[in-house]
Amino acid sequence: MVNENVLEIKNITVDFDGFCALLRVNVNVKRHTIHFFIGPNGAGKTTLLDIICAKTKPTDGLCMFYPEGRAPIKLTGMKEYKIVEEGIGRKFQVPSVFVNLTVMENMILSLKGNKGVWQAVFYKLSPEEEEHINEVLKTIELLDKKDEKAGALAHGQKQWLEIGMQLVQRPEIIMLDEPAAGMGKPETFKSGEILKKIKESCTIIVVEHDMDFVKQISDRVTVLHEGKVLMEGTCNEVLADETVRAVYLGRGGERNGNAED
Ligand SMILES: Nc1ncnc2c1ncn2[C@@H]1O[C@H](COP(=O)(O)OP(=O)(O)O)[C@@H](O)[C@H]1O
Ligand SMILES: [Mg+2]
Repeated sequence: MVNENVLEIKNITVDFDGFCALLRVNVNVKRHTIHFFIGPNGAGKTTLLDIICAKTKPTDGLCMFYPEGRAPIKLTGMKEYKIVEEGIGRKFQVPSVFVNLTVMENMILSLKGNKGVWQAVFYKLSPEEEEHINEVLKTIELLDKKDEKAGALAHGQKQWLEIGMQLVQRPEIIMLDEPAAGMGKPETFKSGEILKKIKESCTIIVVEHDMDFVKQISDRVTVLHEGKVLMEGTCNEVLADETVRAVYLGRGGERNGNAED
């Protein structure tokens, strides 16, 4: 039987020198879904993403990845770059595109891995590679901007480019930490429409505070509170829950302006 889960977070506990950031967290993420993690600041959302990509080691528990058509992979204990190679990408909150390179050059750089900026500028793409990049640029709605410097893009477009730079490596899962931060409503909505297209080829894990965005695109929502899973369900189920309303939604969600969040 094919496992419909692409990721299983099993009994994860993270203890930072006596401070428990996560306690026995269990979550299954289904393939080709958009799965949100929401919760107040300090709930442990970013820590959980750090656990999945092995930036942080759990005190207890493990994460299993079930790639399509390949044997399961235990992520816990792996090197971070190996996890990226196996097909799990991560986008951090601060954009890390090369502002002096064009959109296309940024994409080539990402496709070619760590070969360096000069190789990206002079690299001759094969027709298949070019087609693949164009396909991704179309998805992220930047095809008409491919020869523009990334530095000239709007904030939202830079975020989409960064997502595109992950997609070009054909990941099975991408993780986005607060992708709508700093975006206006129209840009946030468009990001949602872009993520819906991406979901056809990839599973998307998102940490975000903007509840309109969660409503627009979520398939599943896990609410974290003080390091524990408070509730999981569809967006409507979560919105209707009294406890969730009390600890989180009553405050209208939260976004920390702090760059470290
Ligand atoms: N490296 C660390 N050492 C000690 N405490 C940490 C560390 N990283 C995060 N924390 C703490 O763990 C809690 C959860 O943090 P975080 O996962 O960033 O929350 P969220 O992303 O939900 O706002 C916070 O109280 C934070 O201060
Ligand atoms: Mg965070």
